[in-house]
Amino acid sequence: MKGLANLKIKTLKSTETCPIHHIPLEYLKGMKPFCVECQREETEREKKQQVEDFKIESVRSVLTKLSLVDDASEYNHTFKNFDAPEGTREVQIKKQTRMIAYRYLKDRDDEFNTIMYGTPGQGKTHLAMAMLNAVNDNAKQPQKCLFVNTVSLIQAIKDSWDDPTARWTEKYAIKLLKGVDLLVLDDLGSESAMNVGDKTASQFVQDILYKVTNRQHRIITTTNLTLDQLQRVYNAKLVSRLRAGSRNSAIDFTGITDKRY
Ligand SMILES: Nc1ncnc2c1ncn2[C@@H]1O[C@H](COP(=O)(O)OP(=O)(O)OP(=O)(O)O)[C@@H](O)[C@H]1O
Ligand SMILES: [Mg+2]
Ligand SMILES: [Zn+2]
Repeated sequence: MKGLANLKIKTLKSTETCPIHHIPLEYLKGMKPFCVECQREETEREKKQQVEDFKIESVRSVLTKLSLVDDASEYNHTFKNFDAPEGTREVQIKKQTRMIAYRYLKDRDDEFNTIMYGTPGQGKTHLAMAMLNAVNDNAKQPQKCLFVNTVSLIQAIKDSWDDPTARWTEKYAIKLLKGVDLLVLDDLGSESAMNVGDKTASQFVQDILYKVTNRQHRIITTTNLTLDQLQRVYNAKLVSRLRAGSRNSAIDFTGITDKRY
């Protein structure tokens, strides 16, 4: 019967009336009578639901559509596929990052940053993505989640300099990073060997992040640098902003072995 009311088909009037709208039901020969008004309302509800589903889907797809990852396989990192054998430091770190993800997930207005630092291959990127995936998949009110690898970000902006059609201009990057609900900044500090025009890459990143952190207060940063090293590479004000609210969400990966070997 769906949509019948919208079609210009001649129906017959039944002697029954709709208990809700108190108008006569209509019917086609051999078919069940229906209320035109109930039909119209149902179609309206379906349309609204479709619009709602579309909105949710467009928020959820930000992660895979707009992120800058090193390698697309990183989208597959979850808590589920993060091994944490009993008695290892991995167990604690998994639990800790899960709890932090839950805080981001349950309250969009809970503003605090997270810093995960340690040596290579310890699972920082893995767990940062796991946190994003958890929020992206489970937030009741969908949240825009974005993952940005620092070197990829610089590369993308550099590429835009001689491509007028490029999306990742500096302006676009700042606006996007500011505007999402949860941002992962992956591998901060790994840009140190690069140069960007007449600036060092670290200065370049610093200038961008300074503008981003003006408004963005939900950033998960992963880095190979210690807090001391961060203070030496970037200015104190930026480091302080990146650490804002991270008293309970600074995670030292010391004690975890390199999983790349
Ligand atoms: N506990 C774990 N269980 C399953 N896979 C893991 C675990 N820890 C790390 N890995 C895997 O090992 C690889 C390296 O981990 P990851 O990229 O997260 O390290 P990282 O700490 O970010 O290193 P880097 O500092 O070099 O960026 C990834 O493929 C990741 O999925
Ligand atoms: Mg990493
Ligand atoms: Zn009705």
